[in-house]
Amino acid sequence: IPVEPFDLIVFGGTGDLARRKILPALFRRYCAGQMGGSSRVIGAARSDLDEAGYRAFVSDAIAEFDPDATQNRDHLSAFLERVSYVILDARGDAGWDKLAALVQKDRVRAYYFSVGPGLFGDLAQRLHTYGMSDADSRIVVEKPFGRDLASARDLNRVLAQHFEERQIYRIDHYLGKETVQNLMAVRFGNMLFEPLWNSQYVDHIQITVAESVGVGGRGEYYDRAGAMRDMMQNHLMQLLCLIAMEPPAKFDPDAVRDEKLKVIRALDPVEPDCVVRGQYQADDGAPGYRDEVEAPDSTTESFVAIRAHISNWRWAGTPFYLRTGKRLKARASEIAVVFKDAPHSIFGVQAGRHRNILTIRLQPNEGIELGVTIKEPGPGGMRLIDVPLDMTFAEALGPDSADFPDAYERLIMDVIRGNQTLFMRGDEVEEAWSWTDPIIEGWEERGEAPIPYASGSAGPDDALMLMHRDGRRWREIRA
Ligand code: BG6
Repeated sequence: IPVEPFDLIVFGGTGDLARRKILPALFRRYCAGQMGGSSRVIGAARSDLDEAGYRAFVSDAIAEFDPDATQNRDHLSAFLERVSYVILDARGDAGWDKLAALVQKDRVRAYYFSVGPGLFGDLAQRLHTYGMSDADSRIVVEKPFGRDLASARDLNRVLAQHFEERQIYRIDHYLGKETVQNLMAVRFGNMLFEPLWNSQYVDHIQITVAESVGVGGRGEYYDRAGAMRDMMQNHLMQLLCLIAMEPPAKFDPDAVRDEKLKVIRALDPVEPDCVVRGQYQADDGAPGYRDEVEAPDSTTESFVAIRAHISNWRWAGTPFYLRTGKRLKARASEIAVVFKDAPHSIFGVQAGRHRNILTIRLQPNEGIELGVTIKEPGPGGMRLIDVPLDMTFAEALGPDSADFPDAYERLIMDVIRGNQTLFMRGDEVEEAWSWTDPIIEGWEERGEAPIPYASGSAGPDDALMLMHRDGRRWREIRA
């Protein structure tokens, strides 16, 4: 769908996120015909580059991070003509006049704050001072959105001085993932699931976001954050909200976000014995967490598992098990809705115990799978087996179907179109911190260190115990 011409201004235009995600995403949208008319990309940063220098930077970034870039060479040179650059000091006045003269006031302008949260206030204030915060402008802010409730509130307050909530787009890139949106389509587009979507029929829900990589070059940031702040407070919390929320009356930004907010508000505080934190160890060849972040005494967690409870009519009695970590067995993320056993087995004990499990695979091999119980073919009597009703997108919809836009492509275009459904509202972020803060404070007060786990494992054994003691099991972490 073509969109109106726009200007996208990337503060932190020479940074890592711009290089890896934002610029390649814009290029792909350009190739898809969505950067119509005279839409432009303006990089802004402190680096001393001229326009040609920045275009070379953008071109290199696309070559490195867009696998199809080489096939699109002609497009690339046309795209680069839309790219310009301003040397700018976020904390001073240098460059702001030039930026103000460059942006066009008669079109949608999105200002992407691809910088640390410490600069959000400076940028917002200068956009206002230099006359760029009018109604057609939007700002896009990245996580981390604060590191606790108090700092998130401060950020919200600072942004609200110059921008209205409808102009603020807080990114959680998990909401831009194809299957995450499919989760809503499956729940609210079918008659089949919603009547069973409650504690009467659902035994428990597990959400796993497992990564095989370590912290890599982001050690400095990560060691101050940890898995709880980096992943649980935002990405896993958002998945939990979408899976647990009541059906919104319509698919509109506030209707959806109101329902998500109610879920977070209904979360019980987490008892210390319902959380496990871990830290990966050196393994032959692979460095341990402490080596990677170069902090020999670090007690930051690279893994966290939680048993959460939502105290409302729908979910009382159904636990939600959440886990995420780095250097685990595989890169594999999924949500599994595990239904209760049938109340009575007419086939006797030899038929075994069978359960329906609805699995939503986020990555890799995006798809949805429903485990159903059938008779094992053959003359051996009534033996039951579980088979998946598989809807791997690539298989069900053809190979091209797996070629959907990256989360950033979709989210950036939503900003341009003015659709906030897949962005976090200020109150949601604050409420998520209200739930997270006491967990982190508890660790600090008790001086609790994370439990070591082997690289390439499923995390510490205590995380397995978190489910075993309830008579349940985590699903295998499998790519
Ligand atoms: C980011 C985290 O938000 O998400 C990273 O800061 C993490 O630590 C990343 O690696 C995972 O995203 P994805 O899309 O690769 O699952």
